Amino acid sequence: MKCKRSKLSDFGFTEGINEVIAVTAGKGLNAAPIGIIVDDAHGNTARARLFPSHTRENIENGSPMWANVCFDAVLFVISAFEDPAEEFYTSIDPPILKGSAAYCKFECSLEGSKAILRFAEGKILNRPLRAVNRGFNAIIEATIHATRYATNRALEEKIRYCGTIVEKCGSKREKEAYRLLLEYAGLEP
Ligand SMILES: Cc1cc2nc3c(=O)[nH]c(=O)nc-3n(C[C@H](O)[C@H](O)[C@H](O)COP(=O)(O)O)c2cc1C
Repeated sequence: MKCKRSKLSDFGFTEGINEVIAVTAGKGLNAAPIGIIVDDAHGNTARARLFPSHTRENIENGSPMWANVCFDAVLFVISAFEDPAEEFYTSIDPPILKGSAAYCKFECSLEGSKAILRFAEGKILNRPLRAVNRGFNAIIEATIHATRYATNRALEEKIRYCGTIVEKCGSKREKEAYRLLLEYAGLEP
């Protein structure tokens, strides 16, 4: 059942920066990892810093944002570099990526580089019970560095360090995500 009047914590958001895969609509569906900044998880507004990107362009053109709360390392890497194909979605309207634990639709308005996000509706899809996996966290770090690597080659060292954690602590999915990440960044395995 969809939930229209809820607090962000109901969907897994906590105070601080919540890394989600944000889907917006433009010519097609666009997906990108975005950090949603939450000051009060018991409230229903949040914000994000949006640098020039397709996500920002779609929001400028009036798209809402469907924040997918997701723990799939491969999807984080793919969506950082391109748009996941339709087969990665379990639903197109609303756009929900396969394996997402929840999604929240936010109405968005822009104030300079800041986007104000107002919760419109959301749904909990499953409640994964997860222990912390350093390999997954390392993929998130490595992906942030990898998206900046094109303009800052010094970041290779940080990416490789994250890779050592992925190899030590990650599952097959995180190792697959790291392999893809190196490929997208143009780095040797
Ligand atoms: C974990 C993570 C968090 C990110 N958070 C943001 C963010 O808060 N704001 C932003 O503008 N870009 C952020 N990025 C970078 C965008 O995901 C990246 O620029 C992406 O290529 C944009 O894709 P698009 O052009 O399809 O929107 C983040 C990347 C990662 C890996």
